[in-house]
Amino acid sequence: MKEEILSRLTNVVFYESTDSTNVQAKRLAEEGAENKLVVVAETQTAGRGRKGRDWSSPPGKNLYFSLMLRPDFAPDKASMLTIVMAVAVKRAINDVACVQIKWPNDIVADGKKLAGILTEMHMDAGAIKDVVIGVGINVKNQDFPEDISRTATSLEAVFGKQIARADLLEKILYHFDEAYKCFLLTYDLSGLLAEYNACLANKNREVRVLDPAGEFGGVAKGINEKGELLVQTKEGNMVAVYAGEVSVRGIYGYV
Ligand code: BTN
Repeated sequence: MKEEILSRLTNVVFYESTDSTNVQAKRLAEEGAENKLVVVAETQTAGRGRKGRDWSSPPGKNLYFSLMLRPDFAPDKASMLTIVMAVAVKRAINDVACVQIKWPNDIVADGKKLAGILTEMHMDAGAIKDVVIGVGINVKNQDFPEDISRTATSLEAVFGKQIARADLLEKILYHFDEAYKCFLLTYDLSGLLAEYNACLANKNREVRVLDPAGEFGGVAKGINEKGELLVQTKEGNMVAVYAGEVSVRGIYGYV
């Protein structure tokens, strides 16, 4: 994978092993790396998922990379980059077959997770220093760790086709550039909304919002231009869910 990636892409660094491409991208950003640096690893010894979870990162099977950006917009816009990347990953995989997105950023097929995105922002004096968007995609057939074996799958397991990881990375970065240009026109998701909502696994499904202020149920209707999930409660109110855990009946079960 290394030679294929380095020969095709610029502003990319490749590691046979690193702790986490997100952490390494942040270190390189602190050392002055250029905007849009891509950090790729064959394996991660401390791959991280959302909510402090681990991200299983065996070598030879998957794609683990982080894209570091130095945007000049306000920090409250940064979380939308997760959705921009989700659209890019979905577009790249859709060249092979159709996948869905579970809000905000899980790529799913057959009700199982194929890929996850972890976006981390670093700030200085109230302004963004850098944003690191980390992507992990299960590409090859594999034995997943016990705790995720019922909820995770891989591209090859679902689609039965061999997928070159370097090709996939190249496509994702191309689609990210396109989707990011669209985002920068309005600094929101209005240009990507229809596409995102069309493949939203949660759409018109019953969800439970695990809000720290109180759990509630409703039907997910899609995202708005800020990337919030619109949930219609049984009283008929439309609630915009900013962040937090939303579980969807039938998608990984209620977890
Ligand atoms: C999730 O919990 O769904 C997000 C998973 C993100 C995993 C990727 S793998 C590359 C990058 N480096 C990390 O440590 N995490 C992200």
